[in-house]
Amino acid sequence: MKKINWGILAAGRISSWFCTGLQTVSNANILAIGSRSQEKAEQFGDRFEIERRYGSYEELVNDPDIDVIYVGVPSRWHHEYTMLALRAGKNVVCEKPFSMNAKDTKEQITYAREHNLFLMEAMWTKCTPVYRTVMDWVSQGRIGEVRFFKADFFTPGKANPPHRLYNYEIGGGALLDLGVYPITYACSLLGHHPTEVLSAADFAHTGVDINNSIILKYENGNYAAISSGFNVHQQNPAVIVGTKGKITIDHNFLCAESAQLRDLNNEIIQQVHYPFEKNGYEYEGMEATRCLQAGLKESPWIPLEHTQAVMEIMDTCRKQWGFAYTFEK
Ligand SMILES: NC(=O)c1ccc[n+]([C@@H]2O[C@H](COP(=O)([O-])OP(=O)(O)OC[C@H]3O[C@@H](n4cnc5c(N)ncnc54)[C@H](OP(=O)(O)O)[C@@H]3O)[C@@H](O)[C@H]2O)c1
Repeated sequence: MKKINWGILAAGRISSWFCTGLQTVSNANILAIGSRSQEKAEQFGDRFEIERRYGSYEELVNDPDIDVIYVGVPSRWHHEYTMLALRAGKNVVCEKPFSMNAKDTKEQITYAREHNLFLMEAMWTKCTPVYRTVMDWVSQGRIGEVRFFKADFFTPGKANPPHRLYNYEIGGGALLDLGVYPITYACSLLGHHPTEVLSAADFAHTGVDINNSIILKYENGNYAAISSGFNVHQQNPAVIVGTKGKITIDHNFLCAESAQLRDLNNEIIQQVHYPFEKNGYEYEGMEATRCLQAGLKESPWIPLEHTQAVMEIMDTCRKQWGFAYTFEK
């Protein structure tokens, strides 16, 4: 089978994590790195043994041998560089949040569809073995009908010097960077179109939301209760409560390696433990590579409609808080 040639756009932190995982994916070849600095491209290229190193994103996306571009820039520029790659005729995997708002996401999706290109949000959670097992348990009716989902994602960010999460200018803030995970999980379980979104947030001195709480309410009386932020440390558990039982994830639900299926008395009926083969990012690399080899235009596990719906929920929350980034179109 043909190897898929990857081009990595940006030599930053997440790109390095992704490449660490991607290096272990059979049929994936990291062919090129593009950075705004030739020196950084060379350093990144040495580290990951990447043959082609470009000192601009434009040169990268115009390399005719690249099959797919991974966009690993800060959130503010997801839209701009996804569009740059799509307009160069490239398939794209873009980091979360897919863009800053639903309008930009729509433009990305529409362009990819009109030009028959593969497009995927790098929602690595949805590619992990534990997430897929949880979805199997749910679809097999092991906990009955899902009634309630609760999850938190808190990670401490240093205020001084400001952590990227505090940085307004690059599109920081808890909702778009962290809240996107529990919202995505909730929507997978309860549906992508809640009847009501109730939310509240607090703001950091830099102007971004430092924490937020969201309730997604559904027609049939089901709920999701979600919080995210970077002012405290949390274990980031999740619980999915159904009419016949529940599923618990004790630690970092978004990248969990273990989950427990429990009865109504909280007794464990089954549990799984799937240690990552590398660092957890290999699974999204496998998923995109598999889709591209199969000629798919989107991943069945990360449908673009679902990415779009999550962006719309995040728009609704920000509207409720009166919070827009001044650089948004
Ligand atoms: N999936 C996950 O688990 C995960 C984890 C962390 C972060 N993320 C996401 O990944 C994205 C990047 O986060 P990161 O931690 O990798 O950030 P980072 O290291 O600060 O920046 C990533 C790279 O973006 C490039 N870039 C392009 N324009 C830039 C600009 N105007 N200012 C600064 N950098 C610019 C730079 O690469 P060059 O200098 O090489 O051009 C920079 O090294 C965020 O959107 C975040 O939400 C995802």
